[in-house]
Amino acid sequence: MLTEIATIDTPAVTLSNFRIADEDLPPFRDMKFEDIEQLHLDHPGANDEAYRKRRDYIASLAKKFRETGIITDVDYTEEEQNIWRYVAGQLEELHQQRASQFYLDAKRDLGFSNDRIPQLSEMNRRLKELTGFRLAPIEGLVETRAFLRWLSFRTMLSTQYIRHRSKPEYTPEPDIVHEAIGHIPTFTNKNFADYSQFIGHGARIANDRQLEELGRLYWFTVEFGLKEEDGGIKAYGAGLLSSVGELEHAFGDEVERRPFDFEEVINHDFTYSDLQPVLYVIPSYNFLKEITRKYIESF
Ligand SMILES: [Fe+2]
Repeated sequence: MLTEIATIDTPAVTLSNFRIADEDLPPFRDMKFEDIEQLHLDHPGANDEAYRKRRDYIASLAKKFRETGIITDVDYTEEEQNIWRYVAGQLEELHQQRASQFYLDAKRDLGFSNDRIPQLSEMNRRLKELTGFRLAPIEGLVETRAFLRWLSFRTMLSTQYIRHRSKPEYTPEPDIVHEAIGHIPTFTNKNFADYSQFIGHGARIANDRQLEELGRLYWFTVEFGLKEEDGGIKAYGAGLLSSVGELEHAFGDEVERRPFDFEEVINHDFTYSDLQPVLYVIPSYNFLKEITRKYIESF
C-alpha cells in the first residue's frame, strides 16, 4: 500500500537528502489529529476544569502555529514552572549517572535549565543550527503514520502543555516535559537526527505490516533505547530519560538488556502501558542509522 510515495514527490523523500528547505515542508494546516475525547479519564487532570481550560488554551497556540508557521511562546505560570523544576531536578542526578554522554552535552548545548521550561521557539532555533531539525507545536495526538512522516522532513511534532500538578512524575500523554527532556536533545546528534529522518521516510512508503515494524523500532530505540558506552550501558530513549521510574527500572534487575538484533526488535510486540521487561542495547547511533537505511531500502 504505497499511499504516500505515489502522491508526494519532493526532494525530502530520499535517504540521502539531509537538508530540508522551508519550501520542502508540507503545509502544517492540513494536519490530521486522532479523533479521541480531548482528555482521557485516566489523565490526572481530566476532572480539573481549570487545568482543562489551560491545556486547551496552550493547544490553541499550536492551532495558530499551523495557520501562521510562527511558534508562539507559552507564558508558563509559576505552578507550571514548579512542575518542571520538580521533575527536571529529580532527573538531573540520574541523568549524570545513566544518560548517554551526547545527551548530557545536548542539554548544555540547548541551554537547558532545571529552573525554567524551555520554549519550543528557542530549541527550534538551536536545533536548526546544529542538525537542521525543526520543531512544530501540535495540540493533540497525531495518527502514527502521519506523526512519523513529519520526521522525513526533519521535523518533530511537539506538545507545549504540561502534565497535571497532582502527579508530576507521570503523564499518560506526551507533554512538554517528555518532549523537552526526552526527545528534543536527541536531535542534536547528527546520526540520530538522520536515523529519525529515515524512520519518517520509511513511514511514508511502508505497507501496514512495515509500519507496525517501524513502530516497534521507534519504541525500542527512540523511546526506550540503550547504548553501549565506555564499557557500560547508557540510556538515550526519551521514555527513559524523561521518567525517574522508567530510568531506574531500565537499569534494574528485572530488565533483560539484550544486544540489539534488528529482526528481533521489529518483531517484538510490546505493551504500551507496562514497564518494559526487555530493552535493546545498540553499539552506536551510526550502526542504528545504517541498518535502518538498508531495511527501508528493501521496502
Ligand atoms: Fe515520546
